[in-house]
Amino acid sequence: MSKQQTMLVSEEELLRQEEFSHRVKEILEMRYGDHMPVAHVHSYGCQQNVSDGEKIKGMLARMGYGFSESTADADLVIYNTCAVRENAEDRVFGNVGALKHNKQRRRGMVIGLCGCMMQQEHIVHRLQKSFPYVDLIFGTHVLHRLPELLYQTLSTRERVFETPDSDGVIAEHLPIQRDGSLKAWVPIMYGCNNFCTYCIVPYVRGRERSRTSREILAEVEQLVLDGYKEITLLGQNVNSYGKGLEEEINFSGLLRKINSLDGDFRIRFMTSHPKDATPELIDTIAECEKVCHHLHLPVQSGSDRILREMNRHYDTESYLELIRYARQRIPDISFTSDIIVGFPGETREDFLQTMDLIRQVRYDSLFTFIYSKRVGTKAASMDDPTPAEDKTKWLMELLEEQKRIGEQQLQRYVGDTMRVLADGPGKAGEGYLTGRTEQNLIVDFPASEELIGSFVEVTITKALNWALLGEINTSHR
Ligand code: SAH
Ligand code: SF4
Ligand code: F3S
Repeated sequence: MSKQQTMLVSEEELLRQEEFSHRVKEILEMRYGDHMPVAHVHSYGCQQNVSDGEKIKGMLARMGYGFSESTADADLVIYNTCAVRENAEDRVFGNVGALKHNKQRRRGMVIGLCGCMMQQEHIVHRLQKSFPYVDLIFGTHVLHRLPELLYQTLSTRERVFETPDSDGVIAEHLPIQRDGSLKAWVPIMYGCNNFCTYCIVPYVRGRERSRTSREILAEVEQLVLDGYKEITLLGQNVNSYGKGLEEEINFSGLLRKINSLDGDFRIRFMTSHPKDATPELIDTIAECEKVCHHLHLPVQSGSDRILREMNRHYDTESYLELIRYARQRIPDISFTSDIIVGFPGETREDFLQTMDLIRQVRYDSLFTFIYSKRVGTKAASMDDPTPAEDKTKWLMELLEEQKRIGEQQLQRYVGDTMRVLADGPGKAGEGYLTGRTEQNLIVDFPASEELIGSFVEVTITKALNWALLGEINTSHR
């Protein structure tokens, strides 16, 4: 059996879960009669997690649950958690704490926790000890077994904990209840092998593994038939897509295949690790008309010394070289990035190099984070002498500078005509719609609501600090 096949959740197992799904449905019908039980599912963290949340909802819908945005009327609450930074974890603990009262008020209510936090032993211990009203805890590697685990919870009324450590599996053909009807998330790979020294993801998500191109293409094809206009391919490092598959394919090859599918839709992807972003990838973006001219390329730091300490496997020179090549091949390409401020041992000097780098690249926007110590990672045992106040001050400086750059960057689009996917009512005023350009920039423009869900050509008239304003270009209609 190939490695790929051993990672794949078997047909038998999926059928077994369907069987449990029926049993849960029977229990619910007995308990709730004609009144449909209500679930509240909330995903924290990255789009991978949001995508998992859509599968959780898909499975729950099959078991007979309806959904609510609020926890107040929920018979089942599932928090799909994120472990990437301490404040993400604190938020979960706070919200779980608040559920205690709901549970007292609502007999038979079930509280479930899953996702990345549940793959950490110290977190599970804490929940076990201090949160006795949490009924069900399951990890990232057993998501597809939700029907079985929920059945156990409902039928025994005992606490169920299922958080095995694993290299990870791939579960195809789970039901999915998507959050939107225009934009869809499509994971192309799971897990991560990079072990950046600050990051918990490889410990909680298992090893890197790719879905076959056949499965991905079938999913995208169906989404396009269903009217989806924007497909975002997901992975912690999409640039290493294809490793370990029997077929000979890399990420560029996958992009080309998806690009050649029929239909009017656009393709986005995230995240690209700079160490594996190649000129071939840039050429592919340039040549595939459906692939958006936007690259989210997390740099993390502008100091080569810190990048080495982070185990990132690139330096600022190679990073800037790639940016230069991309700008030469795709002049209207937009760059965004992630930056960590205050990595252990980062000095003012290192930080100033990050400031220098963002001035050179001129990102359209940045996601910035203060370093957060994660139990079990290599960086957790590194000396971290910089006081927290200094780190906060540096972050403010960075935000200030990026605000200035971002505003200038937006100005350069004034006068351009851009293709925008109209996706809802705009904030700029009465009668405005809002949408995103290929570069992922927000544009508000006056238009009738019938245009929601279609691509429109918009000429940019003004840059505000948060978005662009424009008018529909009638010559293109
Ligand atoms: N796989 C993606 C990133 C996933 S995590 C990549 O490699 O680009 C998203 C972002 O969270 C990271 O890019 C990083 O900037 C930030 N991050 C991860 N771990 C962190 C930590 N311990 N403290 C602060 N920020 C962190
Ligand atoms: Fe974390 Fe690095 Fe993997 Fe991204 S590539 S998920 S930052 S270990
Ligand atoms: Fe968070 Fe897990 Fe994503 S740790 S960022 S939800 S992979």
